[in-house]
Amino acid sequence: MLAEAGIRTVTTSAGSPKKIYPKIKELGLKVLHVTLAAPLAVKAAEAGADGVVVSGTESGGLRTTGPESTNLILIPLVCDIVDVPVVAAGGVADRRGYRAALALGAQGVQIGTAFLASEESPASRSWKEAIVACGDAGTALLPMGGMAMRTIINPKLGKLMTTGADLSKEYNMMNAGKAWSTGDFDLYPAGAGQVSALIKKIRPVKDIIEEMVRQ
Ligand SMILES: Cc1cc2nc3c(=O)[nH]c(=O)nc-3n(C[C@H](O)[C@H](O)[C@H](O)COP(=O)(O)O)c2cc1C
Repeated sequence: MLAEAGIRTVTTSAGSPKKIYPKIKELGLKVLHVTLAAPLAVKAAEAGADGVVVSGTESGGLRTTGPESTNLILIPLVCDIVDVPVVAAGGVADRRGYRAALALGAQGVQIGTAFLASEESPASRSWKEAIVACGDAGTALLPMGGMAMRTIINPKLGKLMTTGADLSKEYNMMNAGKAWSTGDFDLYPAGAGQVSALIKKIRPVKDIIEEMVRQ
């Protein structure tokens, strides 16, 4: 379907891409693989990835529950050990983050949270407003099975964290879609990266990119 639709580059994540790569390559598509750790970036490159997306612990989205590095460490680490281009994912919302990622050796950036909070994003208004309202240290990892989701700490989650409650029992990831579309963040907290703290208003994508790449 992707090839028929004229898609030229595919991104794979969450698990080894090894099995699917021969098919994708056969169709003449390029592949990027998302990795959260340096050894996995090497494996992805060895498996045939044309580039790796390196996602530090500050990123929004699904994470592992184990120890992880921030992009300040992970990007140069991966750049030193793979021969394919590296895309930095996580913590980029403005010109400073973009230039920092390039200075660390990345060839480009992948942006989640800043675009999630953009005018054009189909996310609910309340989700975007939660990102804009989120301050320093305003996110936490919610465990769910062997993985975790970075989310914005709201009053309910903040209270649960102080009681040492088992958060994987308090929240069900299956409720995230409903919670995020209705703004009921007691049902499941709003997914977003640490970079939320730097996002001060809902802006058009054009403004976000123009400010980011200006010289
Ligand atoms: C709510 C949310 C859900 C995400 N879900 C996925 C996903 O399913 N698969 C994936 O590879 N990345 C996912 N991501 C990660 C983004 O693609 C991107 O790499 C990340 O958000 C970059 O970090 P940033 O949020 O600091 O910009 C998600 C991010 C967010 C904020």
